Amino acid sequence: MSIIYDAAHRIFKLDAGESSYLLQVGAHNYLFHLYYGAHISDTDISYLTFHCPHAAFSPKQDAADTFNPDVIAFECPGNGCSDFRGSAITVQNADGNTATDFRYVSHRIYAGKPAIRGLPATYAAEDEADTLEILCRDAATGVETLLFYTAFRGISAITRHARVINSAERGVVLRRAMSTAVDFHTANGMDLICLYGEHNNECRFARSPLTHARTEVFSKRGASSHMHNPFLALCSANATEEEGEVWGFNLVYSGNFSASANLDTVGGARVLMGINPEDFAWRLDAGESFDTPEAVMVYSDRGLGEMSRTYHRLYRHHLCRGKWKTAKRPILINSWEAAYFNFDDDKLVAFAREAAALGVEMLVMDDGWFGKRNNDKCALGDWVVNEEKLKGGLDSLVRRVNALGMKFGIWFEPEMISPDSDLYRAHPDWALQVPNRGKSIGRHQYVLDMTRADVRDYLFDAMKKVLDSTKIDYIKWDFNRNLTEAGSALLAADRQGEVFHRFVLGLYELLERLLSAYPDLLLESCSGGGGRFDAGMLYYSPQVWASDNTDAMARLDIQYGTSLCYPASTMGAHVSAVPNHATRRTTPFDTRAAVAMAGTFGYELDPCKLSEEEKAAVREQCQNYHRYYPIVHEGELYRLIPPVSGDRNRAAWCHVSADKRQVLATYVVRRFDGQDRHHFRLAGLDPTLRYREEKSGRVLSGDTLMRAGYAVEERLFDGQSRTFLFVAEE
Ligand code: DGJ
Repeated sequence: MSIIYDAAHRIFKLDAGESSYLLQVGAHNYLFHLYYGAHISDTDISYLTFHCPHAAFSPKQDAADTFNPDVIAFECPGNGCSDFRGSAITVQNADGNTATDFRYVSHRIYAGKPAIRGLPATYAAEDEADTLEILCRDAATGVETLLFYTAFRGISAITRHARVINSAERGVVLRRAMSTAVDFHTANGMDLICLYGEHNNECRFARSPLTHARTEVFSKRGASSHMHNPFLALCSANATEEEGEVWGFNLVYSGNFSASANLDTVGGARVLMGINPEDFAWRLDAGESFDTPEAVMVYSDRGLGEMSRTYHRLYRHHLCRGKWKTAKRPILINSWEAAYFNFDDDKLVAFAREAAALGVEMLVMDDGWFGKRNNDKCALGDWVVNEEKLKGGLDSLVRRVNALGMKFGIWFEPEMISPDSDLYRAHPDWALQVPNRGKSIGRHQYVLDMTRADVRDYLFDAMKKVLDSTKIDYIKWDFNRNLTEAGSALLAADRQGEVFHRFVLGLYELLERLLSAYPDLLLESCSGGGGRFDAGMLYYSPQVWASDNTDAMARLDIQYGTSLCYPASTMGAHVSAVPNHATRRTTPFDTRAAVAMAGTFGYELDPCKLSEEEKAAVREQCQNYHRYYPIVHEGELYRLIPPVSGDRNRAAWCHVSADKRQVLATYVVRRFDGQDRHHFRLAGLDPTLRYREEKSGRVLSGDTLMRAGYAVEERLFDGQSRTFLFVAEE
């Protein structure tokens, strides 16, 4: 059991991998946070609780209290009752006030991990994790909160979520429902890391000192968004890729979120993460309950690198599910950049024929195959095959592709509706909207009201018709605008504050329904690239298209940031044509492949236009994908020269196989800056093994490669790269 309860001191101790998390039932049954960090042996560390005897301007409920609720580390901070920091849970009771004060009532510890109703979450067998449930009650309203903590036995990861239960007789409104709240005792000198971005520029790494001003990453777009990933980390100021302390927070959720942190006046910090309280108000009638999404907290005392590897292990084995969880993904070729809307069956078959001969395993027909969709101005919602384009129908096309030995994948954007569509003409009320206000348009489309069961039924049936008509192996599930005027025609006025969350619940329900009906289907989610690259989507789609920007140089940054939380097996990455469609940049073919090899790998180009030399390269790249698969997808990532460090002109990383006997290292020069020395130190190797570098035949020990490093003995210019395979000698 990785969770114990020390009844004498009323302390809970959770040990997850190499980390410990301690909390205590303290005075008046408040839950005090005691510690989160590297594994410790003792349980009673209540001496660490800072009571703060100087308490000017800090009222107390009980004047005799020796602790100060304004600064003490709380585990489930309430609202308006002497803790002036951000609350975890705020309930507006039937009288209209928002004072909320949860106190410990009871607890339960058990092996395993429960699922969360209607929401994606990590999962574990009984011998892999233990769960602590703490029941708290707000005496004034009778509302209860169940706090769930799961500690993974062999992984330094702890998950948290809360269930708010209205056990009272009158209805309340949930105003704030955070998934986790962690009060750090000492945070002076820490840094805060987040991932920001935009379309074509996702998951950019940002690191700054944690300050007294609250820093918040958030979305109120109805999707996790390109702008901020639902991730935040605190780290020691000296933390690097492989050294220093890091605390990562990642939300398993695909909608509006908020994650914030700031230093407090006594040198501590509160981290809060959960559904964005803005535009959120959930009516909780008597007897009803509400589950927050899950927050995944990872601790590392070996820098950002180990934090990422921990997330990768956890998400590969305890979040992704089903047939494709760890199965080798087919190398795909996608029609988008090759043809956009301009294709027919013959063109697609020509793509498939060329690509199959080179070793590509699946053709994906992107946007443009349905309704009258010859551009992005119409037809979303009309999921009926356009037989003018696909002459002979979809089944005939799929058979022709399959006959070439290729699987077949198809694109959908289920949550959207074009004003110029048969669906909209029949059901204008199915688009999200609010009365007496115009509907904002984005990419010529509106968003469907996914809170409605009839809308979801329509989508399921429409997709089912397509899926049942032939053999579809893969779906790219796209989402190309964010939510505005988010009102639902079917919800009462006092439930409109639920639309954003209900939208996400509706999306999850539809995904679950589809996967239950078609368990062999491989889903790749996408939102104009990485606009919904989050752990919530990974529960349904084990791969996500990381960015519409397929330029290998831009991908260095995008994939670096994405890799902070998400493993290579989840990161959609393709080789595309040059000049790149997003940046106009021309990058060498082998560099484009080397960068895509750090993700799911595939192509996004017209194979009929490849030169003989390029075709030979593709053949080799496909063979390499299979060769390197156990290293990249079953091994571990070490970021050797992060492109975000002082030197933005170089990047290097390596993947090390699980047995440490094979290492694939990639070194890239983004921009020639006259510095001709190209050197990098490997990491993650077995120091005692001797490794042979494949091309040079040079044999070096693991310790030499990690300490003295390796050199690229060539001049390298803009965009050039070199890949090295090191294999341990018998
Ligand atoms: C946005 C996606 O990110 C692209 O890959 C492509 O599928 C287009 N949508 C199609 O409209």
